[in-house]
Amino acid sequence: MRVDGQPRRTLWPAATLDALFVIDQRQLPHRLAIESLASVEAVFVAIRDMWVRGAPLIGATAAYGLALQANVDASDDALRGAAMQLSSARPTAVNLAWALQRMLRRLLPLPSALRADAAWREAAALADEDVATNQAIGRHGLQLLSALQPRRDGVLNVLTHCNAGWLATVDWGTALAPVYQAQAAGWKLHVWVDETRPRNQGASLTAWELAQQGVPHTLVVDNAGGHLMQRGQVDAVIVGCDRVAANGDVCNKIGTYLKALAARDNGVPFYVAMPLSTLDINLHDGLRDMPIEERSAREVTHIGGRAANGDWVEVQLAPDGCAAANPAFDVTPAALVSALITERGVIAARPDDIAALAAATP
Ligand code: MRU
Repeated sequence: MRVDGQPRRTLWPAATLDALFVIDQRQLPHRLAIESLASVEAVFVAIRDMWVRGAPLIGATAAYGLALQANVDASDDALRGAAMQLSSARPTAVNLAWALQRMLRRLLPLPSALRADAAWREAAALADEDVATNQAIGRHGLQLLSALQPRRDGVLNVLTHCNAGWLATVDWGTALAPVYQAQAAGWKLHVWVDETRPRNQGASLTAWELAQQGVPHTLVVDNAGGHLMQRGQVDAVIVGCDRVAANGDVCNKIGTYLKALAARDNGVPFYVAMPLSTLDINLHDGLRDMPIEERSAREVTHIGGRAANGDWVEVQLAPDGCAAANPAFDVTPAALVSALITERGVIAARPDDIAALAAATP
């Protein structure tokens, strides 16, 4: 994707293979801050504190974290310990564990002297594959969208929640990949961007990246989606996901479930872009067993942003001492999902279809 007209990924290794560069997404949309992470501890903090976020991106970042570990100590214990620490940084997106397990599977059979080189190569391969995966999701999603008849003025209106775009992956995004491909194909389209309280990934990240790519979009409060759907102003909802269970239940940013309910009530298709790295085939019942991250109450009682003088300020919304709960994700039951868009094609959110795809995946 392009930032200020220049092609960029969201992370890249130092040429000297002793650091990883990432965008500190907490500072967007006001500042494009590039940070260098030079240790496993730094990578852990960047994932935990959401400098980087989005399921595929935290997986790729963690893979490079193991490469940093292999530079200093590539013993079995050190690599396993680092993987355990990194996987504890955030609990919901399964891509984190997926990426770390892939790295360990590649590295542990090797003599330790060869592990550091192999780790940097494997992390780079994982990042490149993420890009190819998202491009494929974009192609399959585009086909799905091309079957829709825009309800208004020949413009295809897509609603998305949170940020499942370029910034949530190494490049392209998952839910936004079909949007970017539609734009490249010259379609007339417009994106409704949910602000996504409490951390406002829609307002600060999705709106920013769509603007960078020149995609027409409008920011709305989270509660507007149902109203827009009732008025025929949404042709499709497309969201990303953090973990999909074997029964097709989809976990994504809090508020996704309400969008799916509104979509069902209004006959609007509800699509989930799902790279296979986000499928947890061992989780049989998503509604019952999905691990949901509970974040700080302060994200609910307070809000941050840029003041008129350019300084970042935080202000309090709720009364002093107000109790607040902050579940960061919710589960949309499979029955509300119109289709899963994967890199291998579009499938139904049904156990048999999911099992067949998983079985066919190397
Ligand atoms: O808490 P976040 O910002 O990491 O949550 C991100 C999301 O919920 C995304 O929709 C999901 O990770 C898919 S990203 C392609």
